[in-house]
Amino acid sequence: MYHEPVLKEEVIAHLQVKEGQKYIDATLGDGGHTLAILEKGGIVLGIDINDQSLERAIHRINSAGYGKSFFPCKGNFEHIDALAEDTGFNQVSGILMDLGYSSFQLDESDIGLSFLRDSPLDMRLNKDLGVTAADLVNSLSEKELTQLISNYSDEKFAKSFAHAIVLSRNLKKIQTTRQLADILKSASSPGYEHGRIHPATRTFQALRIVVNDELGNLERSLPRAARLLLPGGRMIVISFHSLEDRIVKMFAKEQERIRNGAQPWLKSVTTKPVEPTSTEVQSNARSRSAKMRVLERKVYL
Ligand SMILES: C[S@@+](CC[C@H](N)C(=O)[O-])C[C@H]1O[C@@H](n2cnc3c(N)ncnc32)[C@H](O)[C@@H]1O
Repeated sequence: MYHEPVLKEEVIAHLQVKEGQKYIDATLGDGGHTLAILEKGGIVLGIDINDQSLERAIHRINSAGYGKSFFPCKGNFEHIDALAEDTGFNQVSGILMDLGYSSFQLDESDIGLSFLRDSPLDMRLNKDLGVTAADLVNSLSEKELTQLISNYSDEKFAKSFAHAIVLSRNLKKIQTTRQLADILKSASSPGYEHGRIHPATRTFQALRIVVNDELGNLERSLPRAARLLLPGGRMIVISFHSLEDRIVKMFAKEQERIRNGAQPWLKSVTTKPVEPTSTEVQSNARSRSAKMRVLERKVYL
Protein backbone atom coordinates (compact mmCIF):
# COMPACT_ATOMS: atom_id res chain seq x y z
CA MET A 1 0.00 0.00 0.00
CA TYR A 2 1.39 3.38 -0.99
CA HIS A 3 0.94 6.73 0.78
CA GLU A 4 -2.23 8.45 -0.46
CA PRO A 5 -1.09 11.79 -1.95
CA VAL A 6 -2.89 14.65 -0.24
CA LEU A 7 -4.65 17.30 -2.38
CA LYS A 8 -3.38 15.56 -5.52
CA GLU A 9 -5.88 17.11 -7.95
CA GLU A 10 -5.28 20.58 -6.48
CA VAL A 11 -1.49 20.18 -6.67
CA ILE A 12 -1.62 19.17 -10.33
CA ALA A 13 -4.06 21.95 -11.21
CA HIS A 14 -1.93 24.62 -9.52
CA LEU A 15 1.40 23.35 -10.86
CA GLN A 16 0.01 23.68 -14.41
CA VAL A 17 2.34 20.89 -15.53
CA LYS A 18 3.56 21.19 -19.11
CA GLU A 19 5.14 18.44 -21.16
CA GLY A 20 8.94 18.47 -21.18
CA GLN A 21 9.20 21.07 -18.36
CA LYS A 22 11.22 20.42 -15.22
CA TYR A 23 9.78 20.11 -11.69
CA ILE A 24 11.22 19.37 -8.26
CA ASP A 25 9.39 17.21 -5.76
CA ALA A 26 11.37 18.04 -2.62
CA THR A 27 9.54 15.45 -0.50
CA LEU A 28 9.31 12.43 -2.77
CA GLY A 29 7.85 9.99 -0.21
CA ASP A 30 6.17 7.12 -2.04
CA GLY A 31 6.23 9.20 -5.23
CA GLY A 32 2.46 9.69 -5.50
CA HIS A 33 2.61 13.37 -6.48
CA THR A 34 5.67 12.79 -8.65
CA LEU A 35 3.87 10.07 -10.56
CA ALA A 36 0.98 12.45 -11.26
CA ILE A 37 3.45 15.06 -12.61
CA LEU A 38 5.20 12.43 -14.76
CA GLU A 39 1.85 11.29 -16.16
CA LYS A 40 1.30 14.87 -17.37
CA GLY A 41 4.63 14.79 -19.22
CA GLY A 42 6.79 16.62 -16.65
CA ILE A 43 10.42 15.77 -15.85
CA VAL A 44 10.97 15.37 -12.12
CA LEU A 45 13.85 15.64 -9.67
CA GLY A 46 12.59 13.70 -6.63
CA ILE A 47 14.40 14.52 -3.37
CA ASP A 48 14.04 12.62 -0.12
CA ILE A 49 16.17 12.41 2.99
CA ASN A 50 15.00 8.88 3.80
CA ASP A 51 16.51 5.81 2.10
CA GLN A 52 13.36 3.70 2.32
CA SER A 53 11.25 6.43 0.69
CA LEU A 54 13.69 6.66 -2.19
CA GLU A 55 13.77 2.88 -2.70
CA ARG A 56 9.98 2.63 -2.66
CA ALA A 57 9.48 5.57 -5.04
CA ILE A 58 12.16 4.40 -7.48
CA HIS A 59 10.60 0.94 -7.63
CA ARG A 60 7.10 2.36 -8.07
CA ILE A 61 8.01 4.88 -10.76
CA ASN A 62 10.19 2.48 -12.75
CA SER A 63 7.41 -0.13 -12.63
CA ALA A 64 4.99 2.48 -13.99
CA GLY A 65 7.37 3.07 -16.94
CA TYR A 66 8.42 6.65 -16.12
CA GLY A 67 12.04 5.92 -15.17
CA LYS A 68 13.42 8.01 -18.05
CA SER A 69 11.91 11.29 -16.89
CA PHE A 70 12.53 10.73 -13.19
CA PHE A 71 15.72 11.67 -11.33
CA PRO A 72 15.81 10.44 -7.72
CA CYS A 73 18.11 12.24 -5.32
CA LYS A 74 19.00 11.53 -1.71
CA GLY A 75 19.29 14.69 0.35
CA ASN A 76 17.79 17.19 2.75
CA PHE A 77 15.59 19.78 1.00
CA GLU A 78 17.33 22.31 3.18
CA HIS A 79 20.03 22.11 0.46
CA ILE A 80 17.56 22.19 -2.43
CA ASP A 81 19.62 24.79 -4.32
CA ALA A 82 22.83 22.72 -4.26
CA LEU A 83 20.97 19.47 -5.07
CA ALA A 84 19.23 21.18 -7.99
CA GLU A 85 22.45 22.72 -9.27
CA ASP A 86 24.23 19.33 -9.21
CA THR A 87 21.49 17.66 -11.22
CA GLY A 88 20.70 20.37 -13.78
CA PHE A 89 17.39 21.38 -12.16
CA ASN A 90 18.42 24.92 -11.26
CA GLN A 91 15.67 26.52 -13.41
CA VAL A 92 12.35 24.80 -12.98
CA SER A 93 8.68 25.39 -13.67
CA GLY A 94 7.47 24.13 -10.32
CA ILE A 95 8.46 22.91 -6.88
CA LEU A 96 6.40 20.84 -4.47
CA MET A 97 6.97 20.35 -0.75
CA ASP A 98 4.52 17.94 0.87
CA LEU A 99 5.83 18.16 4.42
CA GLY A 100 5.89 15.58 7.17
CA TYR A 101 5.97 11.82 6.91
CA SER A 102 4.56 9.15 4.64
CA SER A 103 2.02 6.59 5.83
CA PHE A 104 4.68 3.92 5.43
CA GLN A 105 7.06 5.81 7.70
CA LEU A 106 4.36 6.34 10.32
CA ASP A 107 2.66 2.96 10.21
CA GLU A 108 5.17 0.40 9.05
CA SER A 109 8.76 1.51 9.42
CA ASP A 110 10.76 1.07 12.60
CA ILE A 111 11.91 4.69 12.83
CA GLY A 112 9.75 5.18 15.93
CA LEU A 113 7.72 8.13 14.63
CA SER A 114 4.40 6.90 15.93
CA PHE A 115 3.10 5.77 19.31
CA LEU A 116 0.79 3.33 17.54
CA ARG A 117 3.66 1.01 16.76
CA ASP A 118 6.17 -0.26 19.28
CA SER A 119 9.71 0.40 18.11
CA PRO A 120 12.94 2.01 19.30
CA LEU A 121 12.40 5.66 20.23
CA ASP A 122 14.54 7.06 17.43
CA MET A 123 12.50 9.25 14.99
CA ARG A 124 15.45 10.22 12.76
CA LEU A 125 14.52 10.17 9.07
CA ASN A 126 18.19 9.84 8.32
CA LYS A 127 20.70 8.08 10.54
CA ASP A 128 23.26 10.85 9.86
CA LEU A 129 21.22 13.14 12.11
CA GLY A 130 22.84 13.06 15.53
CA VAL A 131 20.18 13.14 18.22
CA THR A 132 17.38 10.61 18.68
CA ALA A 133 14.09 11.12 20.52
CA ALA A 134 15.37 8.73 23.22
CA ASP A 135 18.45 10.96 23.67
CA LEU A 136 16.15 13.95 24.24
CA VAL A 137 13.72 12.34 26.69
CA ASN A 138 16.54 10.74 28.69
CA SER A 139 18.85 13.73 28.91
CA LEU A 140 16.97 17.06 28.86
CA SER A 141 16.10 18.67 32.19
CA GLU A 142 12.47 18.74 33.29
CA LYS A 143 12.29 22.44 32.40
CA GLU A 144 13.77 21.86 28.94
CA LEU A 145 11.36 18.99 28.32
CA THR A 146 8.41 21.14 29.36
CA GLN A 147 9.54 23.85 26.94
CA LEU A 148 10.14 21.40 24.10
CA ILE A 149 6.70 19.80 24.45
CA SER A 150 4.91 23.08 24.92
CA ASN A 151 6.73 25.08 22.22
CA TYR A 152 6.38 22.47 19.50
CA SER A 153 2.92 21.14 20.19
CA ASP A 154 0.89 23.49 22.41
CA GLU A 155 0.34 20.56 24.79
CA LYS A 156 -1.53 21.81 27.87
CA PHE A 157 -0.10 19.01 30.01
CA ALA A 158 3.50 19.76 29.02
CA LYS A 159 4.60 20.34 32.60
CA SER A 160 3.06 17.19 34.05
CA PHE A 161 4.21 15.13 31.06
CA ALA A 162 7.80 16.36 31.52
CA HIS A 163 7.59 15.58 35.24
CA ALA A 164 6.31 12.05 34.54
CA ILE A 165 9.08 11.46 31.98
CA VAL A 166 11.76 12.47 34.49
CA LEU A 167 10.29 10.32 37.30
CA SER A 168 10.04 7.36 34.99
CA ARG A 169 13.51 7.61 33.45
CA ASN A 170 15.02 7.73 36.94
CA LEU A 171 13.71 4.18 37.37
CA LYS A 172 14.36 2.91 33.84
CA LYS A 173 15.81 4.46 30.69
CA ILE A 174 13.06 5.25 28.13
CA GLN A 175 13.93 3.34 24.98
CA THR A 176 10.74 2.52 23.10
CA THR A 177 7.72 4.32 21.70
CA ARG A 178 5.39 2.13 23.79
CA GLN A 179 7.21 3.01 27.01
CA LEU A 180 6.90 6.73 26.32
CA ALA A 181 3.27 6.48 25.18
CA ASP A 182 2.37 4.60 28.40
CA ILE A 183 4.11 7.20 30.58
CA LEU A 184 2.20 10.02 28.88
CA LYS A 185 -1.09 8.17 29.11
CA SER A 186 -0.67 7.58 32.85
CA ALA A 187 0.23 11.25 33.38
CA SER A 188 -2.85 12.57 31.56
CA SER A 189 -6.36 12.97 32.92
CA PRO A 190 -9.01 10.35 31.98
CA GLY A 191 -10.98 12.85 29.88
CA TYR A 192 -7.90 14.01 27.94
CA GLU A 193 -9.13 16.03 24.92
CA HIS A 194 -12.53 14.29 25.31
CA GLY A 195 -10.93 11.11 23.96
CA ARG A 196 -10.45 12.70 20.52
CA ILE A 197 -6.70 12.10 20.46
CA HIS A 198 -4.27 9.87 22.34
CA PRO A 199 -2.36 11.72 25.12
CA ALA A 200 0.92 10.94 23.33
CA THR A 201 -0.10 12.60 20.04
CA ARG A 202 1.22 16.10 20.69
CA THR A 203 4.38 15.10 22.55
CA PHE A 204 5.33 12.76 19.71
CA GLN A 205 4.75 15.62 17.25
CA ALA A 206 7.05 17.88 19.28
CA LEU A 207 9.80 15.26 19.39
CA ARG A 208 9.57 14.56 15.64
CA ILE A 209 9.83 18.28 14.89
CA VAL A 210 12.94 18.70 17.01
CA VAL A 211 14.73 15.46 16.06
CA ASN A 212 14.33 16.19 12.33
CA ASP A 213 14.68 19.99 12.63
CA GLU A 214 11.47 20.28 10.62
CA LEU A 215 11.01 24.01 11.14
CA GLY A 216 14.64 24.98 10.55
CA ASN A 217 14.80 22.96 7.33
CA LEU A 218 11.61 24.55 6.04
CA GLU A 219 12.66 28.10 6.93
CA ARG A 220 16.05 27.76 5.22
CA SER A 221 14.71 25.96 2.16
CA LEU A 222 11.97 28.39 1.08
CA PRO A 223 14.16 31.28 -0.16
CA ARG A 224 16.58 28.79 -1.75
CA ALA A 225 13.72 27.04 -3.55
CA ALA A 226 12.24 30.33 -4.73
CA ARG A 227 15.47 31.22 -6.54
CA LEU A 228 15.17 28.08 -8.68
CA LEU A 229 11.83 29.05 -10.19
CA LEU A 230 11.56 30.28 -13.76
CA PRO A 231 9.36 33.37 -14.21
CA GLY A 232 5.78 32.14 -13.93
CA GLY A 233 6.99 29.03 -12.06
CA ARG A 234 5.09 27.96 -8.98
CA MET A 235 6.01 26.71 -5.55
CA ILE A 236 3.49 24.65 -3.60
CA VAL A 237 3.85 23.84 0.08
CA ILE A 238 1.51 21.47 1.92
CA SER A 239 1.86 21.66 5.69
CA PHE A 240 0.24 19.60 8.44
CA HIS A 241 0.60 21.68 11.56
CA SER A 242 0.28 25.37 12.38
CA LEU A 243 3.99 25.85 13.13
CA GLU A 244 4.89 24.86 9.56
CA ASP A 245 2.03 26.80 8.01
CA ARG A 246 3.05 29.92 9.93
CA ILE A 247 6.55 29.76 8.39
CA VAL A 248 5.13 29.47 4.87
CA LYS A 249 2.62 32.27 5.53
CA MET A 250 5.34 34.59 6.89
CA PHE A 251 7.58 33.78 3.92
CA ALA A 252 4.74 34.63 1.53
CA LYS A 253 4.12 37.93 3.37
CA GLU A 254 7.81 38.78 3.27
CA GLN A 255 7.83 38.14 -0.47
CA GLU A 256 4.99 40.59 -0.97
CA ARG A 257 7.16 43.21 0.72
CA ILE A 258 10.26 42.56 -1.39
CA ARG A 259 10.16 45.06 -4.20
CA ASN A 260 11.94 44.77 -7.47
CA GLY A 261 10.85 47.83 -9.40
CA ALA A 262 7.20 48.06 -8.48
CA GLN A 263 6.57 44.34 -8.15
CA PRO A 264 6.89 41.67 -5.48
CA TRP A 265 9.19 38.78 -6.29
CA LEU A 266 6.83 35.92 -5.51
CA LYS A 267 3.12 36.47 -5.24
CA SER A 268 0.56 34.31 -3.48
CA VAL A 269 -1.77 32.63 -5.96
CA THR A 270 -4.19 31.65 -3.20
CA THR A 271 -5.19 34.26 -0.63
CA LYS A 272 -6.26 31.59 1.84
CA PRO A 273 -4.65 28.16 2.10
CA VAL A 274 -6.32 25.41 0.09
CA GLU A 275 -7.73 22.64 2.28
CA PRO A 276 -9.00 19.16 1.39
CA THR A 277 -12.67 18.66 0.63
CA SER A 278 -14.81 16.72 3.10
CA THR A 279 -14.83 13.84 0.60
CA GLU A 280 -11.03 13.68 0.68
CA VAL A 281 -10.96 13.85 4.49
CA GLN A 282 -13.50 11.03 4.64
CA SER A 283 -11.44 8.77 2.40
CA ASN A 284 -8.05 9.82 3.83
CA ALA A 285 -8.14 10.94 7.47
CA ARG A 286 -4.48 11.98 7.30
CA SER A 287 -5.39 14.81 4.95
CA ARG A 288 -7.58 16.53 7.58
CA SER A 289 -5.00 19.02 8.82
CA ALA A 290 -3.45 19.76 5.41
CA LYS A 291 -3.03 23.37 4.28
CA MET A 292 -1.67 24.11 0.84
CA ARG A 293 -0.16 27.46 -0.16
CA VAL A 294 0.79 28.36 -3.72
CA LEU A 295 3.33 31.04 -4.67
CA GLU A 296 4.26 32.18 -8.17
CA ARG A 297 7.45 33.77 -9.43
CA LYS A 298 6.53 37.06 -11.04
CA VAL A 299 7.04 37.56 -14.74
CA TYR A 300 8.84 40.85 -15.39
CA LEU A 301 8.19 42.66 -18.62
C1 LIG B 1 4.27 13.33 3.34
S1 LIG B 1 5.62 12.45 2.66
C2 LIG B 1 5.50 12.82 0.95
C3 LIG B 1 4.51 11.94 0.25
C4 LIG B 1 4.52 12.10 -1.26
N1 LIG B 1 4.08 13.40 -1.67
C5 LIG B 1 3.67 11.01 -1.92
O1 LIG B 1 2.71 11.36 -2.62
O2 LIG B 1 3.97 9.85 -1.76
C6 LIG B 1 7.01 13.44 3.13
C7 LIG B 1 8.35 12.90 2.70
O3 LIG B 1 9.30 13.95 2.90
C8 LIG B 1 10.50 13.41 3.38
N2 LIG B 1 11.19 14.46 4.11
C9 LIG B 1 10.88 15.00 5.31
N3 LIG B 1 11.76 15.97 5.64
C10 LIG B 1 12.65 16.05 4.61
C11 LIG B 1 13.77 16.87 4.36
N4 LIG B 1 14.17 17.80 5.24
N5 LIG B 1 14.44 16.71 3.20
C12 LIG B 1 14.03 15.77 2.29
N6 LIG B 1 12.98 14.96 2.49
C13 LIG B 1 12.28 15.09 3.63
C14 LIG B 1 10.08 12.23 4.24
O4 LIG B 1 11.12 11.30 4.34
C15 LIG B 1 8.87 11.71 3.50
O5 LIG B 1 9.24 10.66 2.64
